[in-house]
Amino acid sequence: MILTIAMDGPAASGKGTVGRRLGDKLGLHYLDTGLLYRALGQATQQAGLDCDREDDVLSMLPSIDLDHLDPDRLGAHQVGMLASKVAVHPKIRNGLLSLQRDFAARAPGAILDGRDIASVVLPHASVKFYVTADLTERARRRHADAMRDRPDLTLDDVLKDITARDERDMNRSTAPLRQVADAILLDTTHLSIDEAVAQALRHVSLHDQSRNLGV
Ligand code: C5P
Repeated sequence: MILTIAMDGPAASGKGTVGRRLGDKLGLHYLDTGLLYRALGQATQQAGLDCDREDDVLSMLPSIDLDHLDPDRLGAHQVGMLASKVAVHPKIRNGLLSLQRDFAARAPGAILDGRDIASVVLPHASVKFYVTADLTERARRRHADAMRDRPDLTLDDVLKDITARDERDMNRSTAPLRQVADAILLDTTHLSIDEAVAQALRHVSLHDQSRNLGV
């Protein structure tokens, strides 16, 4: 049986780091679905098109290739803002669904991190996490990351951008970010990466035990 883990949460909550580590420990495939939206946002902008126009973004959809998503190239802070613009369009979200579901169906299973994994992409995921952290802590983490390629960015700039991104992601009409009823809340504000991974692992093994016991 295939194990699927959904890991949703707001920007810089730690879901990517925890998801990747969990994937390594459990031997599961791992997909950062934010990269799909980032790649589309970047491709749309580079083609001189408008991320706010659904048809413009739709025309770039065929360029998305799961095997060529480069986190280094797509990780820049401003690409995250483009991503959240293209992510509001229903046809775009719909167009990326089968790609994500096909990825999750590969044996022995997969961890997908994003905003709508438990609510839309994998509503029957074996384990669902909602990973979050206080806004100021998330901004501090993202600022520390962003300093590498944008030393001019202040903590306040990052705080404003993350707030705008949360606002757009949580209030869009299609697949808004939310914690589904059966998701496990993982608040990483005061946790080290190792502690967060250990907590997530405990929940996955509890799921495994209950599955083996048939409960
Ligand atoms: O996770 P990351 O910060 O890379 O995501 C960038 C943006 O892509 C998010 O702010 C969100 O708007 C969008 N996204 C989404 N659904 C997903 C993953 C990302 O809407 N499953």
